[in-house]
Amino acid sequence: MHVAIAGAHGKVARLLTRLLTERGDEVTGLVRDPAHVADVGGDGARAVVLDLESADAVEVAGALRGADAVVFAAGAGPGSGAARKDTVDRAAAVLLADAAEAAGVRDYLLISSYGVDAVRDGAAPPELDEVFVAYLRAKLAAEQELLARAAAGRLHVTVLRPGGLTDEAPAGRVHLDASVERGSVPRADVAAVCRELLDVAATVPLGGRVLELVGGAEPVELAVARLAAHDGGATG
Ligand SMILES: NC(=O)c1ccc[n+]([C@@H]2O[C@H](COP(=O)([O-])OP(=O)(O)OC[C@H]3O[C@@H](n4cnc5c(N)ncnc54)[C@H](OP(=O)(O)O)[C@@H]3O)[C@@H](O)[C@H]2O)c1
Repeated sequence: MHVAIAGAHGKVARLLTRLLTERGDEVTGLVRDPAHVADVGGDGARAVVLDLESADAVEVAGALRGADAVVFAAGAGPGSGAARKDTVDRAAAVLLADAAEAAGVRDYLLISSYGVDAVRDGAAPPELDEVFVAYLRAKLAAEQELLARAAAGRLHVTVLRPGGLTDEAPAGRVHLDASVERGSVPRADVAAVCRELLDVAATVPLGGRVLELVGGAEPVELAVARLAAHDGGATG
């Protein structure tokens, strides 16, 4: 499998890259900072420098050629304001979809966020600060754009909504389903779930799946296999 990862110097992305390259998969890692090329190369990926807030779809498509799947693992990150939530968490995710379509890449795995339903239809819950609302709105808008493309048969899309990310050691056990309780999850378990979802996407038609993820009791492989069996049955 050849996977292209946007935001390849991010914490989840680097864990995922290592999981993939250690078993022999090919990874193209898109980074915006040339100083990150060596780290991503050390993870076993081919690094390509592209700023997803200024590149166009043709440039990004060029970096994706030959990939079977793309993963959006970028994020404006803590400390950024509402404007960059929109330019990274929404617009860069959509740019990656434009580029994937142009490059003929079939599968798109979007790392979104738990809680986006709280801002659906313009809601702004008073207990959430303004920047967090902007972040959730950007993630929700990206999901909606990608799911529309999935519904139109233009891309195979899987949306993964992890809860609060931690840097704890992987537990290897998760709660992954269409709807789960609020909670946290180690980034290493998110990476393991992504790897399994990429495997499943290659064999089962997952046309617009939305999955929430927190720490739990079910081994990662079994959780993904259970959902894949359900989808395989549902879609014939
Ligand atoms: N933190 C949480 O609790 C939480 C919860 C749910 C979901 N998530 C989502 O999970 C995903 C992974 O999180 P993480 O903690 O692994 O992320 P992270 O470590 O913050 O990494 C994000 C990466 O995105 C890159 N990036 C930012 N702007 C970019 C641009 N214009 N072009 C290209 N790359 C750009 C950053 O590069 P630079 O280093 O150059 O800035 C960084 O390497 C993110 O989408 C995040 O929103 C987070």
